[in-house]
Amino acid sequence: CGIVAYVGPRQAHEVIIKGLKRLEYRGYDSAGIALLNGGLNIYKKKGKVSDLEEHLYENNLNSNIGIGHTRWATHGEPNDENAHPHYSHSKKLAIIHNGIIENYSSLKQELINKGHTFESETDSEVFIHFIEDIQENNNCSLDEAVRLALTKVVGAYAIVIMSKDNPNLLIAARKGSPLVIGIGKDEFFLASDATPIIEYTNEVVYLNDYEIAVIDNNELKLKNTQDVVSTPYIQTLDMELEAIEKGGYEHFMLKEIFEQPKSIGDCMRGRLNANEGRLVLGGIREYANKLVNAERIVIVACGTSWHAGLVAEYFIEEFCRIPVEVEYASEFRYRNPIIREGDIVFAISQSGETADTLAAIELAKSKGAIIFGVCNVVGSSISRVSHEGAYTHAGPEIGVASTKAFTAQLTVLNMIALRVAHKKGTITERRYHELLVELENIPAKVEKALKLDNQIKEISETFKDARNFLYLGRGYNFPVALEGALKLKEISYIHAEGYPAAEMKHGPIALIDEEMPVVVIATRDSSYDKVVSNIQEVRARKGRVIAVVTEGDALIPQMAEFVIEVPKTDEALMPMVSVIPLQLLSYHIAVMRGCNVDQPRNLAKSVTVE
Ligand code: G6P
Repeated sequence: CGIVAYVGPRQAHEVIIKGLKRLEYRGYDSAGIALLNGGLNIYKKKGKVSDLEEHLYENNLNSNIGIGHTRWATHGEPNDENAHPHYSHSKKLAIIHNGIIENYSSLKQELINKGHTFESETDSEVFIHFIEDIQENNNCSLDEAVRLALTKVVGAYAIVIMSKDNPNLLIAARKGSPLVIGIGKDEFFLASDATPIIEYTNEVVYLNDYEIAVIDNNELKLKNTQDVVSTPYIQTLDMELEAIEKGGYEHFMLKEIFEQPKSIGDCMRGRLNANEGRLVLGGIREYANKLVNAERIVIVACGTSWHAGLVAEYFIEEFCRIPVEVEYASEFRYRNPIIREGDIVFAISQSGETADTLAAIELAKSKGAIIFGVCNVVGSSISRVSHEGAYTHAGPEIGVASTKAFTAQLTVLNMIALRVAHKKGTITERRYHELLVELENIPAKVEKALKLDNQIKEISETFKDARNFLYLGRGYNFPVALEGALKLKEISYIHAEGYPAAEMKHGPIALIDEEMPVVVIATRDSSYDKVVSNIQEVRARKGRVIAVVTEGDALIPQMAEFVIEVPKTDEALMPMVSVIPLQLLSYHIAVMRGCNVDQPRNLAKSVTVE
């Protein structure tokens, strides 16, 4: 979900609607806004922010304060009632809330016993009723009531509350869900991330867990749930507005796919210089030795970031000779995993806010592990709870299906692995230098792979109506097969499965017939010959092979129906190149099927619920 709030001289609804559109990638099944325009009025609508905008039309929206929300349903289906904001019992307070209040049903029952009625099925409505109830019982200020309420709720939240009685007051708090406060001249902006804020100001304060911000009469005060006051730490953001706009591309996803030569380059800038044999990662210092001497590395992540972790497993084990386990964060956190003091955990996350990944980190940390964060969003929760880490510096990723974040994650993880291997002496000087040079060449190779766009569009035309897809790869390209299948599923709603090519014969081969498109990533590497045999097996069952091969391959074109040639590179780095055509394939198929590429149904960019 996404939150935006404003207080200051501007028209609040303009700032909020624009901000909600920028946050729509976080969730988009309903949206709403509360304003003080005559009274405390809430307007909300199932659907996208543009549906809300239409619904607002003709109302007098004149208000210098307001709160707005775009929702991704957790409690209650997406409909007008369940959309935020929500009123308190007296309708004098309104709340927007991201996250989940776990003990809401017992709180709700207590409130029902006291005569409260509820309009929605949400935990958030219970939350604001609860706050009001506390205020009435204790006869205290609103911020004190918020504080007391927060000591009693279990769960995760980022909230903003406004009150009919005070047109200058916004109260915000966070635990586990992000919240940024932008400070302008006589005005304040609050949002789930900085994108709705940066066109007005680059001075921001990131709220920490358990902190409460009280903005009253043009002044920001911070305290925590224990009532300890603190001084806001104001940071200056260096994000450009154009980074969050489409810049001439039809979709954010396409823009982000095409940005990869630059984002991979940005990720290496100042860190890698192959000529001078230099590889430095400023964010890994104090714990560098622990990493070099690690007996084991556990990688936790979700979605595409988990796929990056799988590729990393292959090269960390190969170069560093350290055993690696890659875990879905959501599984890891609930299965009493074995973590010993000093174990190393890599947490990979584009947003740095994924709830399951955060919880996995907390668990590992509590058992004495050292956490290295690999995040894209600077200042995000995961980057802050990690001991050390490295940012991917890919710039804001807005398309829900992750593309440039994935290749940047691989770049960072590769750099970390090479540094560790070099320190440990588990890689020869020659191979180390070869790989540094190859890594530096990746942006140019990705650039070349992007030239395949037109050819891939044609292939997409042929297969856009397919009902199933199979993606096969071996070795380093196995996780790429998973990622290709995920991309297609996410945005075109075609069922797709990624498989290690050799495993095909243990099941998926039964699915192959003359209608089944099979994407085989068959670049020249140590498993090439084996993959060629797998292609033959598919052909023998009349499957339609789309092969991603290394430039100049003479053999596979004789067997495959379609051949996509990517530039040659070291096999350990190939995923950064071989994934490009798969990103483009899913993009074009989704566009041809009329799907909403940037905001696919049911998905959210940053999943801050478990
Ligand atoms: C969501 C997104 C995916 C992403 C995953 C993990 O499911 O839709 O694109 O890969 O979360 O997100 P993270 O921000 O932790 O990388």
